[in-house]
Amino acid sequence: MSDSLLRRKSIVPDQPDGRGLARTLGWPHLVALGVGAIVGTGILTLIGVGADKAGPAVILSFAIAGLICACAALAYAEMATMIPASGSAYTYSYVVIGEIIAWVVGWSLILEYSLVVSAVAVGWSGYAAPLLEAWAGFPMALMQGPELGGIVNLPAIAIIAAVAGMLLVGTRESATVNAILVLVKIAALAVFVAVALPAFDAANLEPFSPYGFAKHMGPDGVERGVMAAAAIIFFAFYGFDAIATAAEEAKNPDRDLKIGIVGSMLACVAIYIAVAVAAVGAIAYTRFANSPEPLALILRELGSPLAAQYLAVSAVVALPTVILAFFYGQSRIFFTMARDGLLPASLARLSARGTPVRITIFTAIVVAILAGFIPLGELAALANAGTLAAFTAVSICMLIMRRRAPQAPRTFRAPLPWLVGGIAVFGCIYLFFSLPVQTQIWFGIWNMAGLAAYFLYARRHAVAD
Ligand code: ALA
Repeated sequence: MSDSLLRRKSIVPDQPDGRGLARTLGWPHLVALGVGAIVGTGILTLIGVGADKAGPAVILSFAIAGLICACAALAYAEMATMIPASGSAYTYSYVVIGEIIAWVVGWSLILEYSLVVSAVAVGWSGYAAPLLEAWAGFPMALMQGPELGGIVNLPAIAIIAAVAGMLLVGTRESATVNAILVLVKIAALAVFVAVALPAFDAANLEPFSPYGFAKHMGPDGVERGVMAAAAIIFFAFYGFDAIATAAEEAKNPDRDLKIGIVGSMLACVAIYIAVAVAAVGAIAYTRFANSPEPLALILRELGSPLAAQYLAVSAVVALPTVILAFFYGQSRIFFTMARDGLLPASLARLSARGTPVRITIFTAIVVAILAGFIPLGELAALANAGTLAAFTAVSICMLIMRRRAPQAPRTFRAPLPWLVGGIAVFGCIYLFFSLPVQTQIWFGIWNMAGLAAYFLYARRHAVAD
């Protein structure tokens, strides 16, 4: 039995499937693809949740989460060029560690991708709602979840339905549209920094770290501290894995994948730190903590309503690509796990347009209900738990392969692998335990259900090769 639990897949690059995707993407496209999937609700909205947990020291939370994510990205780049097959962390774990760990990672990725869709939809709604209220008189009670005093978050549900509809008619991210939307997002953040940074007042940074470093429970029942904030802010940094799924369209995958993954990661770390410094320096953090649209609020408070509207419109226009990227990623994971026999093939059957119809509709219904009623912070925390599990596994895979097959070809080698891998593994575990306890419990429940599915179904249906 233990043999089959730990059986491994051999490295099989994706088979040419006859459709022969054209190799049209160079590294600038891949960096744009990465930045397109990374920059989203994390920087636009969760910065407010982070400020509530860490005070001005949320800047430090950005730096810590960014460092850990960058180390994981290096491990990811090494594995992506070593095993250029679909399924990302799930496939690497299947090849390097064994089936049951691959299952847990795949199950965690399903959680990650689904909940990112919900969370980004709620973040999108935070910026869309004031516009809908001002322009169309739409009642706020129907545009916010219960935690903010509303009834249901209808815009979040609507944007999920719209993106699911796009996937069902076969929309893939077009590299050109994506590149334009990336520019829209970056321009909006640049405008934010240009308006907020001149208002920088060092008094707003005092006291810098009112809640200390390690996670602890505050008297109001909210877990606080720099690490508690970093565990949420981590959300802002991932999405570069979307690049790995574009491997078969890269002109020169060996070189371009690593430039794409590492380049987009570094670009985002730089942009985020600039935005975070500008935000906490501009006004007291208590004024934007937990706001559904903190960056627009800061611009309004600084007396720039037009810039605030510009930022909100940019968010509304550009965030759906993040939803699309993760929704698409989710269907790819399902597809790959079903191809390996671990999930029923009927669930992942593709339509003529290349979209798994059933799983897309089922996922859309579940994530839309979650987005309608659950607060953003809770959705993001649980998505992070799944991602942290996957990143830990990828980093361990890299270290195992350095030991097991040091000479095996890999076109990208992470620098200082034991240091980088060590920071990634321990950093991800530390971040996991800095998440709210409630999130850890939900993650445990999710994986219990997953293991039950594994022993009742997947293990017996796995197609060992
Ligand atoms: N990094 C993505 C975002 O912040 C998930 O929206």
